Amino acid sequence: MPKSAPHTVPSAVPTTAPTVVTFDEQCREPRQATEELRGTAVAADASGDWVVLGHAEAIRVASDADTFSSAVSTHLQVPNGLDGEQHSAFRQVIDPFFGAERMAALEPVLRTVAEDLVASLPRDTPVDAVAGIGSVFAVRAQTRWLGWPADLEPRLLAWMDENHAATRSGDRDRTAGVAAAFDAIIEEVVSARTGETDGQTDVTTELLNSTVQVDGQPARPLSRPEVVSILRNWTGGDLGSIAACVGVVLQGLAAAPDLQARMRVAGPAERSAIIDELLRRDDPFVSNRRVATCPVDLGGQHVEAGQRVRIHWTAANRDEQVFGDPDQIRTGSHAADNLVYGVGPHVCPGRPLATLELVVLAEVLLGACSIALSEDIPTSREVSPVGGYARVGIILRPYRQEK
Ligand code: HEM
Repeated sequence: MPKSAPHTVPSAVPTTAPTVVTFDEQCREPRQATEELRGTAVAADASGDWVVLGHAEAIRVASDADTFSSAVSTHLQVPNGLDGEQHSAFRQVIDPFFGAERMAALEPVLRTVAEDLVASLPRDTPVDAVAGIGSVFAVRAQTRWLGWPADLEPRLLAWMDENHAATRSGDRDRTAGVAAAFDAIIEEVVSARTGETDGQTDVTTELLNSTVQVDGQPARPLSRPEVVSILRNWTGGDLGSIAACVGVVLQGLAAAPDLQARMRVAGPAERSAIIDELLRRDDPFVSNRRVATCPVDLGGQHVEAGQRVRIHWTAANRDEQVFGDPDQIRTGSHAADNLVYGVGPHVCPGRPLATLELVVLAEVLLGACSIALSEDIPTSREVSPVGGYARVGIILRPYRQEK
């Protein structure tokens, strides 16, 4: 296990700031790295960016978009890089895609995806819950939802691997190359539809035909870069997130037979609450960035205008002041404070889809199998900036309901 990083004041942070706690999470597991800083609401990372670890402070930053802007990148990022009215305008376009009726219609499609996958998995033989189940399920579920061709699966799986490796490398050129490769896939899918969208009713076609009303102007069609950016956001980022969430959920269930039993008898609301709570305990969607628009005091620190601020969801979701023992699974009392899907104007629009996918997969798996951890595939944690597990070895055994 890596040694604790020294608590020092990094040079990029103003010396007027009182006792800045800093940590170097490079090449470390994010949950463990922040666990060592329990009680610290706002720390600084090695490059001098602020890292918000406290629950109350995370909510404050995420909720105050005037002070903490999401315009952190020079690239077009719809909607995550937008602020204010522009952001709201695009959320009005995006949010209906995740409405209750649409999710209800998608449920049987996702169930078939899960059933086919679970039927194909080996029994009584170790399997990696992340690569062997999570990644495959994420790609199949997202392509079915978007109406993308099934033969994209090997390319998307290869892209996920390369994206993951590039993210971990911290090499900007490599990350840019991966982003360009993904845009090329999206361009292909979009171009294949342009001009012949009549009669097609899938989500991608609907998005292509969507309009947006910005800055009091009449509604206009989405531009091609806007469509590509939205699709990149819906797939590029989220394939990895769903795979990581599957790893965390299946590890949590495999380690706790009582939780498996509870899931089997639970109703739909309790099932999703259990999954939310497993993800809160070990949030693999680690952080999101903001930039301060003006000087502001936050968690005992003074943030200057222009400084970058990272909301560390994984740490905030384990704040002892809010959750007591953060390892305890308490679906009832923890639900309202759960920050896995964020909070404020940028709160995750894809939550209903992510939850549906995770619940359906868990239901299908637990309906057919009992899940146990397997040491034959050693379980290993991810390292920063990725969270959750790199690998979770599990064994599926046929499950028969007792009469
Ligand atoms: C798999 C589990 C997922 C987790 C844990 C997750 C988590 C989050 C979080 C914490 C945010 C807030 C970002 C911020 O405040 O800057 C967010 C935003 C977002 N998520 Fe998710 N998400 C998940 C799945 C999805 C899915 C499946 C989609 C769509 C297909 C999606 C689409 C988005 C978009 C578009 C935003 C940006 C919203 C905005 O800026 O207004 N997410 N997500």
